[in-house]
Amino acid sequence: MAANHVKFLCVWLSFSISSVFTITLAQSDNYIVHMDLSAMPKAFSGQQSWYLATLSSLSTSLVAKTNATIDSSKLLYSYNHVIHGFSASLTPEELEALKKAPGYISSIRDRTIKADTTHSYKFLGLNYDSGAWPVSDFGKDVIIGVIDTGVWPESESFNDGGMTDVPSKWKGECESGTQFNSSLCNKKLIGARYFNKALIARNPNITISMNSARDTEGHGTHTSTTAAGNYVKDASYFGYAKGTARGMAPGARVAMYKALWDEGGESSDIMAAIDQAITDGCDVLSMSLGLDQVQLYEDPIAIATFAAIEKNIFVSTSAGNEGPDVETLHNGTPWVLTVAAGTMDREFGATMSFGSNSVDGMALYPGNFSSTQLPIVFMDSCNSTAELRKVVDKIVVCQDPGKEDSLNDQFNFVQVAGNVAGIFITNNSNVDVFTQAPFPAVFLEQKDGDILVKYIKSSNDPKASIEFKKTFLGTKPSPTVTSYTSRGPSYSCASVLKPDVMAPGDSVLAAWPSNLGVARVNEDLVYSNFNLLSGTSMACPHVSGIAALVKGAHPDWSPAAIRSALMTTSDVTDNTGKPIKDVGRSLRPADPLAMGAGHVNPNKALDPGLIYDASVQDYLNLLCALNFTEAQIKTITKSSSIDCSNPSLDLNYPSFIAVFRDVTAKANSTTVREFTRTVTNVVEGSFTYKATVTPIKGVKVTVEPDVLVFKGKNEKKSFKLSIEGPRQLDEAVSFGYLTWEDSGGKHVVRSPVVATSYIIE
Ligand SMILES: *[C@@H]1O[C@H](CO)[C@@H](O)[C@H](O)[C@H]1NC(C)=O
Ligand SMILES: *[C@@H]1O[C@H](CO)[C@@H](O)[C@H](O)[C@H]1NC(C)=O
Ligand SMILES: *[C@@H]1O[C@H](CO)[C@@H](O)[C@H](O)[C@H]1NC(C)=O
Ligand SMILES: *[C@@H]1O[C@H](CO)[C@@H](O)[C@H](O)[C@H]1NC(C)=O
Ligand SMILES: *[C@@H]1O[C@H](CO)[C@@H](O)[C@H](O)[C@H]1NC(C)=O
Ligand SMILES: *[C@@H]1O[C@H](CO)[C@@H](O)[C@H](O)[C@H]1NC(C)=O
Ligand SMILES: *[C@@H]1O[C@H](CO)[C@@H](O)[C@H](O)[C@H]1NC(C)=O
Ligand SMILES: *[C@@H]1O[C@H](CO)[C@@H](O)[C@H](O)[C@H]1NC(C)=O
Repeated sequence: MAANHVKFLCVWLSFSISSVFTITLAQSDNYIVHMDLSAMPKAFSGQQSWYLATLSSLSTSLVAKTNATIDSSKLLYSYNHVIHGFSASLTPEELEALKKAPGYISSIRDRTIKADTTHSYKFLGLNYDSGAWPVSDFGKDVIIGVIDTGVWPESESFNDGGMTDVPSKWKGECESGTQFNSSLCNKKLIGARYFNKALIARNPNITISMNSARDTEGHGTHTSTTAAGNYVKDASYFGYAKGTARGMAPGARVAMYKALWDEGGESSDIMAAIDQAITDGCDVLSMSLGLDQVQLYEDPIAIATFAAIEKNIFVSTSAGNEGPDVETLHNGTPWVLTVAAGTMDREFGATMSFGSNSVDGMALYPGNFSSTQLPIVFMDSCNSTAELRKVVDKIVVCQDPGKEDSLNDQFNFVQVAGNVAGIFITNNSNVDVFTQAPFPAVFLEQKDGDILVKYIKSSNDPKASIEFKKTFLGTKPSPTVTSYTSRGPSYSCASVLKPDVMAPGDSVLAAWPSNLGVARVNEDLVYSNFNLLSGTSMACPHVSGIAALVKGAHPDWSPAAIRSALMTTSDVTDNTGKPIKDVGRSLRPADPLAMGAGHVNPNKALDPGLIYDASVQDYLNLLCALNFTEAQIKTITKSSSIDCSNPSLDLNYPSFIAVFRDVTAKANSTTVREFTRTVTNVVEGSFTYKATVTPIKGVKVTVEPDVLVFKGKNEKKSFKLSIEGPRQLDEAVSFGYLTWEDSGGKHVVRSPVVATSYIIE
């Protein structure tokens, strides 16, 4: 039960077309094809004409058998930035012929991609008078490209009140299409495009229900307004989470690139969307989607985002919702930011009043409920619909016996019986799966339930009233790591610690298409302009917006510098001052494989003191050290020649992970893992930084030198961090933190350090 429900809650969208559609031309499939541009004959006017000629040359070689002509419709996309190459719909024979064509490097089959499914600004410490908002001018003129399910342009969150003209560098468009007029864009929503050629090629008989950038799913409207929605007063979800809604960067612009459809999602459409976003002039890309268990050179998102990084575009992605198991994370790509999901200090519920007492419980019932005192009865295990029906006009109270599925069963019995309301006394840790009930339901902790039951048992005529639509703030502890957020290490590059940071992902309020039902009251769908969603899909756009703020304040910073600022300034303690806890690990302290460097802190991210920068060449050196073939590396870098003279797994990253795993090791024999890192002072003035390392169980960490003196801005200093440990570490994961702190105590530059015996394969 719980597992199924959790899946629904977390994996809000799961695009999987293969089960729904069968491929008409059984032998045809979409391929992303990498070509060596240096092999292009001079006679061709451009890449696209060369690709078309290459494709039709395949048809001549096949013509004897099929007499088919490969017309230009075979070519789906000719890419400009993300790869040198194209995508095309090809039969196996055509693919084999293509492999012999001049300039062919490699090809990958198209893949189906899935998305990972207002208060958060206050929780993150943003305010009008100081810090990230005013310093960055609210992200003004930073353009965030969102690759998602489209937008609902009429949403109040896309109002452009108070916004200046669209930045002159913008080259994007507002494409018209089904129920989407190009005049629907404005100074906030500055672009809207859609991509589905590959989806249609794979399913020739498909009918695209909404052939435009209009959102029929809701996900894209929610993520894009989380990143950069404008102010909307009196936003709420049926009275829950009431307040003024706004995105993380209310001054930033949004451009939507719809590539996820009700009918499915194809990687070559996503690549085309990223390609266009680069051409259009986006500054930040936000992608709440990903592919599990793929190598970097086979991951279209990793390949396409390499081109974005080369153009200085910051890329934020979601870690996935497959936690709490280890190595479930996707987008563990060294050049993007990978975001985990945490909780906020906010809960939704109801207050019950009875006798002279009152208790609060959890609830998200969207309907209206009488405020009068109603008869209430204790039904203990609530395991019989027939018994419950006998008291249908009363509020029933159920004690969850705490067995597997018992809460689920009670919930269903009460729903079927149709009692006035159901009160469930439970310690089920997945209770949030039930709160959005289609009937009036309240979930009480045992101690509060005991007070209620005692009252009922002692009263001749027990009555209670319930007030729904309550928002409780200040939940402790918070943030916590959600159970569902996917965990590292990275499948595709285990030498870089992932995820990078955590951001709010649980019960996030953001805009929603007004024609899409958000919940049910009894049998009826109910509608709202705002919806509460949970998932790493919701965490990712928070950081996209915050990255826009950092970029607004520091337009010259590289994507790696912005990532470093976000990571080294994040928080590792919660609102009780204790280490952030992990809901997926029975509230034990969260490790960096769950939350990365910590919970993102936008105000501090603007002034990190030091940064760990990395260039495109540094990423190339890493790819060389991963022992990829030349063709595999070229697939990612697109360069005609590659310089692998300095291979190194030691990317200049603001976190550290070392593997101690040698089952054949003799007892007590030790080994040392070394990292060389370079930090850049990004503040005017001279500073002396001193290193401290928290003790890490099972290993010894040293830093040399442990004092760094900077004479001025942009000065770089290197240091070596060594981890000495047994060849075979006892712990699966052992961790601590390296902190560089300036003598004035103004800048604290923290990096997680992980030692693991975990097998990464
Ligand atoms: C697609 O349409 C054609 C022509 O209408 C039909 O023959 C074929 O069976 C359809 N294929 C699928 C998979 O529905
Ligand atoms: C083969 O294609 C050519 C050109 O489209 C056409 O003229 C010819 O009739 C076709 N032959 C057959 C056997 O279909
Ligand atoms: C778009 O909307 C405007 C204003 O409502 C209207 O004048 C125009 O004709 C519409 N364009 C299209 C292509 O429907
Ligand atoms: C609840 O009451 C409000 C205000 O009267 C009304 O607009 C809304 O439709 C009601 N909700 C339901 C589910 O009946
Ligand atoms: C319901 O639970 C009670 C104990 O609370 C038990 O005696 C009874 O057998 C259960 N009934 C059913 C139908 O499971
Ligand atoms: C939950 O409640 C049940 C029954 O009251 C109890 O057996 C169980 O130990 C409780 N679990 C937790 C985690 O408190
Ligand atoms: C790459 O190959 C070298 C030489 O065979 C080997 O020592 C090294 O461990 C390999 N690196 C990785 C990341 O597999
Ligand atoms: C390993 O080290 C422990 C503690 O330092 C010691 O008690 C033990 O005898 C050593 N074992 C071997 C095989 O040297």
